[in-house]
Amino acid sequence: MRYKNINADLFIRNRKKLVNKLKPNSVVIVLSNDESQRNGDQFHPYRQSSDMFYLTGLDQEKCILCLCPDHPTESLREIVFTVQTNDSMVTWYGHKYSLEQAKEVSGATTVKWLDSFDDTVKDLILRSENIYLNTYENARFSCDVASRELRYAKGLKKEFPLHNYERLNPLLTEFRLCKEPEEIEMMQQACDITEKAFRRVLKTTRPGIMEYEVEAEITHEFVSNGAGGHAYYPIVASGVNACVLHYIKNDQRLKNGDLILLDFGAEYGNYAADLTRTIPINGKFNKRQKDCYNAVLRVMRKATQLIVPGTTIEQINKEVTKLMEAEMIGLGLFTAKDVKEQNPDSPMYFKYYMHGNSHFLGLDVHDVGTRQVVLKPGMVLSCEPGLYIKEEEIGIRIENDILVSENGPIDLLKNVPIEVEEIEALMKGKK
Ligand code: GLY
Ligand code: MN
Ligand code: MN
Repeated sequence: MRYKNINADLFIRNRKKLVNKLKPNSVVIVLSNDESQRNGDQFHPYRQSSDMFYLTGLDQEKCILCLCPDHPTESLREIVFTVQTNDSMVTWYGHKYSLEQAKEVSGATTVKWLDSFDDTVKDLILRSENIYLNTYENARFSCDVASRELRYAKGLKKEFPLHNYERLNPLLTEFRLCKEPEEIEMMQQACDITEKAFRRVLKTTRPGIMEYEVEAEITHEFVSNGAGGHAYYPIVASGVNACVLHYIKNDQRLKNGDLILLDFGAEYGNYAADLTRTIPINGKFNKRQKDCYNAVLRVMRKATQLIVPGTTIEQINKEVTKLMEAEMIGLGLFTAKDVKEQNPDSPMYFKYYMHGNSHFLGLDVHDVGTRQVVLKPGMVLSCEPGLYIKEEEIGIRIENDILVSENGPIDLLKNVPIEVEEIEALMKGKK
């Protein structure tokens, strides 16, 4: 395993939170993600379902968790199923969990091979009134291919049409939003690896190389520090490419005098970091670039202070928009008079800043939770204002990851170079 062992106590506590909120006479069934098809006889590298990982720590395909807390037989109240391995599987694919290992990782009371699942689950279902199932719920995402969970839910509803079905998603969303100390530790590790990668980029970026060469430096640092890889496909966008918000081609040559926007984050033990920095390719910001950069940095610092208990992402986004608008006036992009006279349905700022400031972060880079969730200590959010002036080929975003706490915002990326002078000195090899 690439990441350090997480004590099973975390997953035991996570399951307890869920069991405490279930209706009486319920069964919960949570499935591992599918292995997803790449091409030929290949799968994509496996990524566990974030909910399954949250509840069990099992980082392997073909695992199932069943909870049936009111079952009269104690050993059937909490069961993990894993695929039975054999010599041929070990020869071709290597090691898979033994029953003892699956128990050690998850802390589950009972662990069984997967081939006993159908019979066991039938008993659990027939004793229960409510069946809690998970489907991937994300208002901003849809996929043509039905997930394993969705296929399973459809099949189960056909087989057991008279049960009451409940969604796990609202419960798991509520729990996953507030991170436990072990989770913060994993996220901090992801952030620390991400910082190392940025420092490497500062040393190696220069005019004439390709964007994908910068991407390779990031990947090198991630993999050599035990990250599973990127938490999302990295954006390495030089010049005007930085104005394409989801630019991931990373195939252009770096031009002397341009800026380069880098949005990347390591995934460590399935937890994400999410960093953005914008740096001058030749190591020195020109006057206009510096003015624009410092405008975004001022907003980023003020926005960080808004990330406190009691507020919402929606409110933060509104405030940040006002801050960015004032900076845009300062940069001469439009005037205060223009703003007064603007059509409120099509505000001036939107041309140069068209995304939100924050999203939740955790097992997923865009983690569970809506913009209306009231912030509580333990939640982690990105803070990422930006400025995109296409006609000047300038795209700037600065992003750190902020832990909400009672004692003020805690920046998990606070040691990553951010000031103009610091970036320039490091690029010159002075620091
Ligand atoms: N890297 C994705 C984001 O910043 O939201
Ligand atoms: Mn990002
Ligand atoms: Mn982000």
